[in-house]
Formats: sequence, structure tokens, C-alpha cells
Amino acid sequence: MNCRKHTRTEKYFIQTFGCQMNVHDSEVMSGLLEQSGYERASAPEEADLILLNTCCVRENAENRLYGHLGNLKPIKDQRPETIIGVCGCMAQQAEQQERIRDKFPYIDLVFGTHNLHRLPELIQEIKQTGVGRLFEVWAEGERAEDLPARRDNPYQAWVNIIYGCNNFCTYCIVPYVRGREKSRRPEKILAEVERLAKEGVKEVTLLGQNVNSYGLDFPPAKSMDFPDLLAKINKIDGISRIRFQTSHPKDLSDKLIQEMAEGEKICEHIHLPVQAGSDKILTAMNRKYTREHYLNLIRKLRAAIPEIIITTDLIVGFPGEEEADFMDTLSLVQEVGYDGAFTFAYSPRAGTKAASLPGQVEEEVKMERLHRLIEVTNSLAKASNLRQVGKVEKILVEGASEKRPEIYSGRTRGNKLVLFDPTTHSRIKRAEDLIGKEITVYIKEGLTYTLKGRIVE
Ligand code: SAH
Ligand code: SF4
Ligand code: F3S
Repeated sequence: MNCRKHTRTEKYFIQTFGCQMNVHDSEVMSGLLEQSGYERASAPEEADLILLNTCCVRENAENRLYGHLGNLKPIKDQRPETIIGVCGCMAQQAEQQERIRDKFPYIDLVFGTHNLHRLPELIQEIKQTGVGRLFEVWAEGERAEDLPARRDNPYQAWVNIIYGCNNFCTYCIVPYVRGREKSRRPEKILAEVERLAKEGVKEVTLLGQNVNSYGLDFPPAKSMDFPDLLAKINKIDGISRIRFQTSHPKDLSDKLIQEMAEGEKICEHIHLPVQAGSDKILTAMNRKYTREHYLNLIRKLRAAIPEIIITTDLIVGFPGEEEADFMDTLSLVQEVGYDGAFTFAYSPRAGTKAASLPGQVEEEVKMERLHRLIEVTNSLAKASNLRQVGKVEKILVEGASEKRPEIYSGRTRGNKLVLFDPTTHSRIKRAEDLIGKEITVYIKEGLTYTLKGRIVE
């Protein structure tokens, strides 16, 4: 018997954890669901289908997920016909599948990162055959092309260019849950960006765990690389800004630096995770570059693109990290003078090489180093923002701030967030009409995380 029959339009709610890959995967799942007749719900309580798109890069991401799962139990108790699913990176891990199977009997559906295009069929299977719980996780798989995506922002879009990762940094779970590198065909990427441009998108962000290895898996090898792809996207009419993430320092080529300098739509920002400042730790992390190689890249980037904004990721407390190694990280951070940084305490991930290395650092030491590092990165971020004061910058307007709707924000090409008062634009009657437009602002103030600007006409 089909007890999940509805006469009204069914609603879905997706909660996303993790990085931009997951955010974009959620957009694709939303697109698939809307294509099959679902509408978006504004809260899980109103939804007939609730999906949690998970991340497992650090332990706290996992803990947050299990907290959320617990919160969904009352919804299932009240409305047993609600379908609750877990997908994304955590779902790829056998031990998490077991945990969900045993401890969370009210989860109906588990699927992974390689078969998210199967979502509509999986839901149909649950509904029609009354199979009860359905676990379908593929170990590897080719991502289907031409999937729809529902974007919240009509002017900015994420575009996958390469899936998976081959690098196996010893701390990282991503290669295990996202599989091996697989570049998308350039003609598919270009067609997608052209379509987005026609739909009114101004800014595209090209996504990959390591965009610099784009194309290396094509036969014949190196027939098309990342700088070639950028050059082609740079020619697409309607797109005014191109961003990309993430760049691995070991593969950042002179050709890419040159393309960044020459491609007028390529934004003057690079996110270049360094992770650590000591060669001993970089080797143990299997990052395949030295401190000197990294610093040399920074010099070359700044020589070619003097106004470039440079951000990074840093890990403290990797196994074997001693005070002297940590001081190397601090000194590298100072030497580069980052404009911004994401800082993390090392979190052992089962199945990765580093989790079983000797010399695991005590939690207390990790926290103490993290705080010292954050103090430095925050003061550098503030200094970077103060350096922007007095500049005149183009920003792409994103919209009103949630908490203070009278304040609008937009990003500079260097990816700095600028807050401004939209009512001072003489030719625009309604503030909302500024959204999606590139406007010129004078930077009048620099705070730790944001800039304040004034519209210039
Ligand atoms: N592919 C990207 C980002 C991957 S995950 C890259 O190579 O840069 C994002 C960041 O999470 C990493 O850059 C790293 O700083 C951090 N990270 C990954 N695994 C971690 C772990 N086990 N503990 C703490 N931080 C981790
Ligand atoms: Fe993880 Fe390293 Fe791959 Fe980035 S490059 S996803 S840190 S293994
Ligand atoms: Fe997390 Fe998966 Fe991204 S583990 S960081 S959501 S690739």
C-alpha cells in the first residue's frame, strides 16, 4: 500500500554542510527535485522530503550532522510519511552508513556523491515499492552531465570543472569520499558558462579540489589545461568576472600566472592553501612543495598581478608538529602577509595516513596554537583591509544584509566584502535594482572582516 500519496505539491528541504562543492551539489539536487515536481520548503517542519548534504573533512562537521539528525526525530514521529535522507561526503563512508543503519532507524535514504543524479528515482523507489529504507552508495562513478541546478543568486554561479582528488594529502579524507580526478569535457563547461551568461549570470566560480590539475587526465595528455580553459571562458560575452578554487601550490604554473595577469575577466584573487610553514610538516603532509617554492610562487604572483589578494588555509597540530614547526607557520604567514586565512586544528580522520602517525598533538596544544595563529591572521586581515581604504573599487552588488536590510553588500574583484548604503545612488530608485550590477565605490573604512564603502558615480 502506498501510504505516501499526496494531493498537494510536495515540498523539499536541503540542509548543506561543507564546502562549495557540496553547496553546488545541493543546487543540483534542488534542480532535480523541482524538475520532478517538488517545491522548496522554508523549514524542515514543512517538508515532505528532508535531505542532509554532509561533510566529513573534520570531526566537528560530523558531530554537527548527528546533532541535526537527532533534531529531526520529532518531525518523523509526528509525520511518519516524511522522507529523511543523508547524502554527501559522510554518506560515502562505510562506518557512517553502519552508524545510520543501526542508530538512526528513522533515516529512510542514504546515497553518496557519485549517484546524486539518481535522487528522483531513489525517491520513487521508496514511495512506490514501499521498500522502506534505501541505501545506495557508489564507490566511484561518472557524474551525469546536463543536470539542472537551482541557484539562489541569479548573478553568480558555481561551475564544476574537475571532480575528485588524486593528491592524498595525508590528513585529508576528500580523496576517499570524492574519488579520483575526473575533468569535465571543455565543450560541456563552455556550453554551461554560455548558457549561464544568457540567463544573466555575471560571475562564475570554477570549482575543483585542485583546479590546476584540470585536463591532465584527458587523452592525449595535456591537450587542454586549466590556463587554456580560463582563456576560453574569458572570451564568453556577458560574463564579467571569473573566479576559481582551489589551487594547489604544487601545480600552479607560470602559464596560469600569465593567464591571470592577461585575462581581463579573471579576478585578482587567489586562494592558495599552504597548510604549514615548515618543510618537515609539509613533507609529512605529502603536499609536494617546500616553503621556499611556495614563497617563490607568491613573489611571482605579486610581480605579475600587483594588486592580487591572497588567502590561504592553515592547519595547526599536525602529528609531529613541534613548537619550532609552528613558529615556521607563523613566520610564513607574516612573510606572505595574507589578506585572509581559514585556520583549522588538525582533526584525525579514520583511514587517512596521518591518523595513525606517531606524535599526535594534544588537544590543548592545538587550541593554544590555533588561538595564537588566529591572532596573527586577524591582524593581517585588518591590515589588508586598512590598505584598501581610499581606493576606488568596482563591486558586484549581492543584496541586503539579513540583519540590517538598509545595508547592502557586494564584493570587489579581490573578493573583499564591502558594505554600503544603497540609497545614495542618484539614478537608482529602488535599492533592489542595484542587485547584480557592478557599481563603483570609494572604500572609506577597513574592519577585520569587511570594508565600508560609499557609492561613487
Ligand atoms: N582541495 C582543497 C581544500 C580541501 S578541504 C585544497 O587542497 O586546498 C579544505 C581545507 O580543510 C584544507 O585546505 C585543509 O586546510 C582543511 N583540512 C582538510 N583536512 C583536514 C583535517 N583532517 N584536519 C584539519 N583540517 C583539515
Ligand atoms: Fe584534500 Fe589535499 Fe586533495 Fe585538497 S589536495 S582535497 S587537501 S587531498
Ligand atoms: Fe567536506 Fe566533502 Fe567538501 S568532505 S570539505 S563537503 S568535498
